[in-house]
Amino acid sequence: MATAVAKAEQAESVEYAARIEHVSKSFGGPAGQQLVLDDITLDVAPGEFVTLLGASGCGKSTLLNLVAGLDDPSAGSIKTDGRPALMFQEHALFPWLTAGKNIELALKLGGVAKNDRRERAEELLELVRLKGSYGKRVHELSGGMRQRVALARALAQESRLLLMDEPFAALDAITRDVLHDELTRIWEETGLSVLFVTHNVREAVRLAQRVVLLSSRPGRIAREWTVAIPQPRRIEDAPVAELSLEITDQLRGEIRRHGQQ
Ligand SMILES: Nc1ncnc2c1ncn2[C@@H]1O[C@H](COP(=O)(O)OP(=O)(O)OP(=O)(O)O)[C@@H](O)[C@H]1O
Ligand SMILES: [Mg+2]
Repeated sequence: MATAVAKAEQAESVEYAARIEHVSKSFGGPAGQQLVLDDITLDVAPGEFVTLLGASGCGKSTLLNLVAGLDDPSAGSIKTDGRPALMFQEHALFPWLTAGKNIELALKLGGVAKNDRRERAEELLELVRLKGSYGKRVHELSGGMRQRVALARALAQESRLLLMDEPFAALDAITRDVLHDELTRIWEETGLSVLFVTHNVREAVRLAQRVVLLSSRPGRIAREWTVAIPQPRRIEDAPVAELSLEITDQLRGEIRRHGQQ
C-alpha cells in the first residue's frame, strides 16, 4: 500500500515542479486575524521560469515561504517535486567560511561524499563564473560575487525547483543586469524550474516565461502574462519595455484599488 502511494506520487511528480492549490494564509495579531493570501492556485511546470510580481506587502515572500515548507498554509495544499532550494535578498553565507567551503557545506548536507565535494564546489563556482574564488572569504567578495556564491550554494542542493526572493534587489543596476544574464544561462543549461519573486516589473519580464501578478490585501492572483520574447533578452529591449508598461499599469491599478503608496 505504502509502495503504491509512493509510486503514484512519483508518477505525478513529473507533471509539475510546484503545485499550489487553493492556498490561503492568515496571520493572527492583536487586531485579530489578517488574511494575507486568498485562494492562490498556481502551477510551476518542470523547467518553467515563473516570476511572481506584486506590491510591497502583498504576500509574495509569504507564498514563497509556504512553497519552501518554512510555514504551513491556513487552507489549501502545496506540493513540490522534491525539496526546493532557496535564495534570498541577503546572501546568508557563513562569514567564517570561504566561498568554496560555504558551497561544500550545502554539498555535505545533500549527502555528497567528502572526496567529491571540492571538485563539485569548483565546478559550481565555475558555473557562476567565480573560477578561482574558492579560497576567498565572504568579506573579500563584492555584493554581486556574494550573490553568485549564494546561487552556487543553492544549485549545490541539486533541487529541481529554485525559489528566489528578490535575490538581486540590493545590487546596483549593472551588476543586476549581469546576474540576470547569468541566471538565464544557468536556467537554460540546467533545466531547473524557477519561482522568482520581485516587485520590479522589468526584472520580472526580463527573466520569466510567465509573469504572475498578485493583488494586495489580500494577495490574490490578479492576472498573468506569457512572455514570448526570445532569450537572451535585455532589460532595455523594446518588447520588454512595452510589456513592462502594460503590467505596470495593471499593478498601479491594483495598488490604487487597495489604497497603498
Ligand atoms: N510571520 C508573520 N506574522 C504576522 N504577519 C506576517 C508574517 N509574515 C508576513 N506577515 C504579513 O503578511 C503581509 C505580507 O508580507 P510579505 O512579507 O509576504 O510581503 P511581500 O509581498 O514579500 O512584501 P515585500 O515586497 O515588501 O517583500 C504583511 O502585511 C506582513 O506584515
Ligand atoms: Mg518579500
